[in-house]
Amino acid sequence: MANFFPRWSNWLPLKILVCAGVTVTALTAATWYYATPKYTRVGYEPIQPNPFPHDIHVQQLGMDCRYCHSFVDVAAHSNIPDTQTCMACHSQVQKDNPKLEPVRVSWKTGAPVEWVQIHRTPDFTYYNHAAHVNRGISCHSCHGQVNEMRVVHHDQPHSMAWCLDCHRNPENHLRPNDQVYNLDWKPGDVNPAEFVAKYGQPKDAKEDFSKKQKLTQQEIGQTLKERWNIQPPLNCQGCHR
Ligand code: HEC
Ligand code: HEC
Ligand code: HEC
Ligand code: HEC
Ligand code: HEC
Repeated sequence: MANFFPRWSNWLPLKILVCAGVTVTALTAATWYYATPKYTRVGYEPIQPNPFPHDIHVQQLGMDCRYCHSFVDVAAHSNIPDTQTCMACHSQVQKDNPKLEPVRVSWKTGAPVEWVQIHRTPDFTYYNHAAHVNRGISCHSCHGQVNEMRVVHHDQPHSMAWCLDCHRNPENHLRPNDQVYNLDWKPGDVNPAEFVAKYGQPKDAKEDFSKKQKLTQQEIGQTLKERWNIQPPLNCQGCHR
């Protein structure tokens, strides 16, 4: 009688078992990886080697983002300040506060504080800070209310769909360029008559914006989009160069 099942098939049940085992492990690992904040990112809030309260320095002391992130409007990357920037004040202020010990150690040894980077786009995408903040996009649109954060967290997804959402409708985010670093700015703060005198209004607007009580984000955004000829890239090569 012909051997119906070839010899190797004796091993089949074992192979299936091993495969199933590997699959389950991979699925568990994937769920873990994708479901923890580092991957979904929103909410990712690593512990920094030295606490740095943005709320105290920005809200309470009134410091501008560019005092520390001094490359943000001139370069692709926005730098993290060096120890000297902190010590400009902290060699005098809060000299004995234990919360500043790692900064003092860094000052003495010359080794930089190892800040943990929170936001990171993959290497195959091109992102440029200056191209955004000099075109009326505020830190607020991409990093949230940093001025109120005791500890910085990842506030927006920074996924491709998220980038494209704004690139398709930048009018939802554009603001007068003297308000880019003001994270508390609201469309309601704009005086319509002054705004129209400075920037005009969209060509096909049905009413006179300068006579309105208040302008909406869309009205402000649409005006600036036309005025500055804003055209964020939607093609693949725009961001994958
Ligand atoms: C006195 C200096 C100082 C000022 C002023 C300041 N920052 Fe920072 N910022 C830091 C330091 C130090 C870090 C790194 C530690 C941390 O993430 O908390 C940082 C981190 C950040 C990060 C996270 C960077 C990453 O790792 O991805 C963002 C976003 C940020 N700052 C935005 C802002 C914005 C927006 C403003 C203005 C409203 C501002 N900062 C003002 C010092 C400053
Ligand atoms: C322009 C001056 C100035 C600079 C620059 C500055 N700070 Fe401060 N910082 C202050 C002042 C003033 C206070 C005290 C605020 C208070 O008493 O409420 C303070 C407080 C602090 C505290 C104590 C917060 C607490 O809860 O006790 C930490 C930590 C701190 N700063 C870290 C830093 C770091 C890190 C840097 C550099 C990235 C930095 N600061 C740069 C002025 C500065
Ligand atoms: C259009 C969105 C967008 C705007 C506007 C924006 N950022 Fe960012 N920011 C990002 C992205 C994306 C990254 C990650 C960059 C990378 O990996 O190269 C980032 C990273 C950072 C970092 C970490 C250092 C770095 O460059 O990798 C700091 C600090 C920072 N931003 C501060 C700011 C400040 C301050 C402002 C406002 C003046 C601002 N950002 C405006 C999207 C934005
Ligand atoms: C909140 C709105 C907004 C978000 C979010 C945003 N962008 Fe933009 N982007 C703009 C605007 C506005 C411009 C300027 C277009 C212009 O100058 O005509 C721009 C321009 C660009 C440019 C062309 C500038 C240059 O240097 O060539 C690139 C590339 C780009 N964005 C990449 C990204 C990437 C990658 C992300 C996501 C990580 C992103 N953007 C998220 C609004 C946004
Ligand atoms: C506005 C900027 C922008 C444009 C335009 C853009 N991408 Fe992306 N793309 C990104 C960013 C940012 C990421 C990284 C997303 C992340 O880290 O989650 C990405 C990731 C990817 C990935 C990796 C898979 C993933 O989802 O993470 C692929 C593949 C990709 N893009 C293909 C394309 C193609 C094809 C086009 C043209 C149809 C395109 N992209 C246009 C910004 C852009």
